Amino acid sequence: MVTADPAQRAGARLRLERVSKSFTREGQSAFAAVRDVSLTVEPGELVTLLGPSGCGKTTTLRVVAGFEQPDEGRVYVGEQDVTDLMVYRRSIGFVFQSYALFPHLTIFDNVAYGLRVRRLPAATIRARVGQVLELVGLPGYERRFPNQLSGGEQQRVAVARAVVVEPQLLLFDEPLSNLDAKLRVQMRAELSRLQRQLAITTVYVTHDQEEAMAISDRIAVMREGVIAQVGTAEELYRTPRSAFVAQFIGRVNLVESRVLGATGGRVAVDLWGASLSVATDDAYAPGQRLFLVLRPESLTLVPESAKATEGEVVVPGVVRSRMYLGEKVEYAVEVAGTLLEALTYDPARRRLFDVGARVGVSCEAASVRALTAESHS
Ligand SMILES: Nc1ncnc2c1ncn2[C@@H]1O[C@H](COP(=O)(O)OP(=O)(O)OP(=O)(O)O)[C@@H](O)[C@H]1O
Ligand SMILES: [Mg+2]
Repeated sequence: MVTADPAQRAGARLRLERVSKSFTREGQSAFAAVRDVSLTVEPGELVTLLGPSGCGKTTTLRVVAGFEQPDEGRVYVGEQDVTDLMVYRRSIGFVFQSYALFPHLTIFDNVAYGLRVRRLPAATIRARVGQVLELVGLPGYERRFPNQLSGGEQQRVAVARAVVVEPQLLLFDEPLSNLDAKLRVQMRAELSRLQRQLAITTVYVTHDQEEAMAISDRIAVMREGVIAQVGTAEELYRTPRSAFVAQFIGRVNLVESRVLGATGGRVAVDLWGASLSVATDDAYAPGQRLFLVLRPESLTLVPESAKATEGEVVVPGVVRSRMYLGEKVEYAVEVAGTLLEALTYDPARRRLFDVGARVGVSCEAASVRALTAESHS
């Protein structure tokens, strides 16, 4: 039976251990699509692989599924090494970008397919298909055909078909990218609810940062076949370990700076001629070059005459553009010859500045993050 009670389901732990996969293209040398990837997804957890096009997300997922054999490394589901198991011997449900439903089969037959392959009794199949269609919000759709369903409904059928066999793992590859923006937001909430309810260990692939942040327990940011950083959305946003991650998760001003002094856990940096003490995990030496991560929402525009308080720097700037977006105002403000992005939320209750205005740009040490120059590439 498909049980909705997580306690009754034992989600499996997925472990990738130093997985690499290269492809040889006609007349070219081997291309490393996935390089030395290690990742653990805890039982019932949803981990998203996030990264730009071509960074190896789908290849990683296909190795987990068994569609690709890794050149190096192992894949474990629970205690079992599944690296050499055929696709159909692994207990995995997939949902792809294209729904890939059988067009000539009814919704019932589409969902029942995996259960028939397993030769379950007809009454059991009927009951389970009914249950999962209910679960994905499509009760009573059994007799329809895929072309009589909207894109969102078809994707729900694809999800029903993946979960009906009670897999140990669920794999999603950009499942929402064919849907329009509004439906995507609605469907991602539904997928998230369903995944939590079933507590099936899940790997989800997307290149949409907001989608990843919305649904994931943890996110693995990938770049050129490598995992750049793994963490919760908040960890990645607040403590990116590289310029790449800082720029990929949210928007950022990267300001080059140098170290004035360093003491345990803090580094004093030069920010526009003022000294600011910033928390860090890295070791720095005086004089060393580094980069500061300044999120747009942590830059506040203040009157030109405003004085800096403790733990804050205020520098003069000029407003170069202003975009009013309702819940926020986006400014481009020029400071020391550089354009910075600054965000003001809740503009109805905040002072706004016009284009051309001379302002103070305030930045608090608490919201600044330091990055070593090496991590800036
Ligand atoms: N069968 C293959 N033969 C040759 N090269 C391949 C093959 N599959 C993938 N690649 C290459 O490996 C790299 C990673 O591809 P992959 O499909 O994993 O990227 P992705 O992160 O899923 O990108 P996207 O967001 O565009 O789907 C790409 O450069 C791709 O061209
Ligand atoms: Mg892909």
